[in-house]
Amino acid sequence: MAKKIFVGVAWPYANGPLHAGHLAGVYLPADIFCRYHRIQGNPILMVSGSDAHGTPITVRAEKEGVSPADIAERFHREFQGYWASLGISFDHYTTTRSLTHQKTVGEIFSTLLDKGYLFQKEVEAYYDPIKKRFLPDRYIEGTCPRCGYERARGDQCEGCGTLLEPSQLLFPRSLLSGEPPVLRTTIHFFFDLPAFQDRLVAWVKENHHWRSNVYRFTLSFLAQGLQPRAITRDLEWGIPVPYPGYEQKRIYVWFEAVIGYLSATIEYAQKQGNPDGWKEWWQDPEVRSYYFIGKDNIPFHTIIWPAILLGVGALNLPYDVPASEYLVFGGAKASKSQGIGVTLPDLLRHFTPDEIRYGLAAVLPESSDTNFELDEFLRRHNEELVGIYGNLIHRTITFAHNYLGGQVPSFPGLDAGISEAIEKAFQEESCCLEAVRLRDGLRVALGLARLGNRYFEEKAPWKSARENPPAMKAALGNLLNLLQALKILWYPFLPHASQRLHELLGASGKVEETGWAFRPLEPHTPLGKPLLPFRKLEATQLG
Ligand code: MF3
Ligand code: ZN
Repeated sequence: MAKKIFVGVAWPYANGPLHAGHLAGVYLPADIFCRYHRIQGNPILMVSGSDAHGTPITVRAEKEGVSPADIAERFHREFQGYWASLGISFDHYTTTRSLTHQKTVGEIFSTLLDKGYLFQKEVEAYYDPIKKRFLPDRYIEGTCPRCGYERARGDQCEGCGTLLEPSQLLFPRSLLSGEPPVLRTTIHFFFDLPAFQDRLVAWVKENHHWRSNVYRFTLSFLAQGLQPRAITRDLEWGIPVPYPGYEQKRIYVWFEAVIGYLSATIEYAQKQGNPDGWKEWWQDPEVRSYYFIGKDNIPFHTIIWPAILLGVGALNLPYDVPASEYLVFGGAKASKSQGIGVTLPDLLRHFTPDEIRYGLAAVLPESSDTNFELDEFLRRHNEELVGIYGNLIHRTITFAHNYLGGQVPSFPGLDAGISEAIEKAFQEESCCLEAVRLRDGLRVALGLARLGNRYFEEKAPWKSARENPPAMKAALGNLLNLLQALKILWYPFLPHASQRLHELLGASGKVEETGWAFRPLEPHTPLGKPLLPFRKLEATQLG
């Protein structure tokens, strides 16, 4: 039976270009996973959007002297361009500025308030006496009380990942004036996280299939005991708080951004003309929800978002949160704010979408921080993609034109070894992709291409063409059918190349409509022209 799958992908802050680390950590893995399930025929919904609120956006707007809305709109468009160019196949990609989102956030706020999960409390908050304003969490830096990292932000320590309240920082200073801020009284709404402590612990403990870093991080976070968290802020930019007296305040960005997974589904269903359609993704317990995120987002997706869902009630909790580690550039974590790493606009200027997808899919940081080196990117591309997969495609098709008149031959049938290898590759790759071990899945696809090249050498069709034409036909028949399998096995990773191979093998329509199965080629199918499937990359191309 088809499995129904919801895929939420982390909402990128619309405050600057995204870089290779975002693509390798979040968007590409999500897309590979979704394309696999789609070609399997499983109903899938993949949503995300641009995170338009929060200080990352206001900081940039202030620097440029434009409005936060201008910044959010500019990068939202830029991000949509990336997805279109790279083939990141969202079913719906929206923004947290959408009316549906604002409305959904307001409703969830009111529901949680009615159910007694929100309460108001007067607190002392940091105020910059020089700039005369309350300071957003991210505008305060200080020393982390847990690990001693000196540039911890008021919302989270990047040294150890702990979520913080600004008041926990030691030696706080304002990023606006550089001076120590003073405390002033203000009132805020708090989310009663402790009310969910026991339910969350019990739920997390059932999720043995989580990646071990996600599982352990979440349980140790819970073991420290949850604290109520302020979910409103003294700010102008953000979603209004639907409560009298809060006109000057806004909802905290993290509290509303995660609600985007639900509101994007609602918006998607409305656009489909089926306003209740969101329920089939959120209320059917058979649906499995996966969240593709970077590891710094773990507590928001394994604790805060599940607590909101439990608080509202009758909504599916995450099934899996395959958080990735970091892609590292020359020893440093890629970081937008510090200008480390290569941006997507840069990559797209020099490489085709599938070249980028291959180079990153081969080094997805699934279980440890992974180095990205341009030399290695070029080497792998040339040795593996061009040298193994591309080479097999090119020589098989070229031979079929030279010796078989550009048609699939009729021959007695697949060699047992080949048909077993194909079957095994389908099984193994399914197993890897379903468990979100995508790099291993790619290795299976590459392995079958490698086997094809060995078969080619062994059968030496250039010799048998003279000495034993039926043997030559059989060998090429087997090889063409290997390509027929490979176009499916490679599809989740290189959708554009698979579509070209699909057409080269004489098919029309979309490769994803063929299903996750090997369908032997019909004899006499005419083949396309033997063009080089991948180009060799040179370092000088980057100049
Ligand atoms: N905007 C956040 C970031 O870039 C991620 C938000 S994920 C969400 O780190 F689910 F909360 F939206
Ligand atoms: Zn720390």
